[in-house]
Amino acid sequence: MDLFEYQARDLFEAHGVPVLAGIVAETPEEVKAAAEKLGGVTVVKAQVKVGGRGKAGGVKVAKNPDEAYEAAQKILGLDIKGHIVERVMVAAGADIAEEYYFSVLLDRANRNYLAMCSVEGGMEIEQLAEERPEALAKVAIDPIVGIDDAKAREIAEQAGFSAELVEKVAPVLVKLYEVYRDEDATLVEVNPLVLTGGGDIVALDGKVTLDDNAEFRHPEHTALAEVAGTTDPLELKAKENDLNYVKLDGQVGIIGNGAGLVMSTLDVVAGAGKNHGGVTPANFLDIGGGASAEVMAAGLDVILGDEQVKSVFVNVFGGITACDAVANGIVGALKSLGDSASKPLVVRLDGNNVVEGRQILADFNHPLVTVVETMDEAADKAAELANAA
Ligand SMILES: Nc1ncnc2c1ncn2[C@@H]1O[C@H](COP(=O)(O)OP(=O)(O)OP(=O)(O)O)[C@@H](O)[C@H]1O
Ligand SMILES: [Mg+2]
Repeated sequence: MDLFEYQARDLFEAHGVPVLAGIVAETPEEVKAAAEKLGGVTVVKAQVKVGGRGKAGGVKVAKNPDEAYEAAQKILGLDIKGHIVERVMVAAGADIAEEYYFSVLLDRANRNYLAMCSVEGGMEIEQLAEERPEALAKVAIDPIVGIDDAKAREIAEQAGFSAELVEKVAPVLVKLYEVYRDEDATLVEVNPLVLTGGGDIVALDGKVTLDDNAEFRHPEHTALAEVAGTTDPLELKAKENDLNYVKLDGQVGIIGNGAGLVMSTLDVVAGAGKNHGGVTPANFLDIGGGASAEVMAAGLDVILGDEQVKSVFVNVFGGITACDAVANGIVGALKSLGDSASKPLVVRLDGNNVVEGRQILADFNHPLVTVVETMDEAADKAAELANAA
């Protein structure tokens, strides 16, 4: 999970990384009040999970609360690379003398951690890495040892900091590593890390990615994902039911068991859609191996809750959970959903106990359900129904 800048700032603060005051706001009025509270020069910063906010007009300096109000009017609602700005952070303005770069990340290729650091921060690090790779220090980090004081000095020296600055920067790098380790992050990036006119090192912009596989160790992280409006409500609902769901843009809802089957179902539906008005899949939803009635009901509930969905394609290959159990799951789901199941369902079952499964659906004889034998025919039917709706 990627965090918003303000969430990264809060984590940094909790771990003793020097940051500036910041207040989150959702309206120009709130921004003005925040700027009044902070006093002096402030910076209004778009909170979106995408890089390059500054260049897109999402970071504006305001000399006083009225300017902050105006900046907020321009930034709130702005579309930054497809992300609409719903909130901003009003940050205390820094007196910047120099801008640096630091990151520590999971280096999968080398089964290790990697720290990167440069005295040339602020600009896009990808550009620096390409144009002047010698200016970007890359230091392998042994996960057992981490970044201790000695390692932090080594990183700072390789990055080109003067001896005096190494003294100031190294302790901050140690703290940033503590964030990375203690929060189970796969990325902690600060761009820019700045030297202020007063001689302090401050993290001005933070990017943190948390490792979803370590979620069970961090119940406190759940709140970070539940910021209103930042996650699709259907995705939240799916998550509550342990369903693997991703919302897409199309009209054909997809339910399948197993990620591989669902992925190929998306392809087949996208292909079939070309013959039916260009309809495309509305989502990815893997209900996993045990497709019980409850899981099927939860899955259908999520998909039918998507207004864009015009038809649903249930594509299940019976294995350990046989087709008759899946069919009973569909029957149970439709019964429990009652009138809220209002869109046509195309069901393709194959594999273990397929004959029994199809018989159960035939006996149920629900007006919205069409049973089709092959995946291609089913995709075609689902696309046709979505296009006709
Ligand atoms: N609190 C602040 N005070 C003064 N200047 C700031 C402050 N925050 C940001 N800036 C200036 O704005 C520039 C861009 O800010 P920031 O790094 O937060 O956004 P960005 O790099 O455009 O966004 P992203 O990191 O998402 O690509 C910084 O390099 C810095 O010069
Ligand atoms: Mg930045």
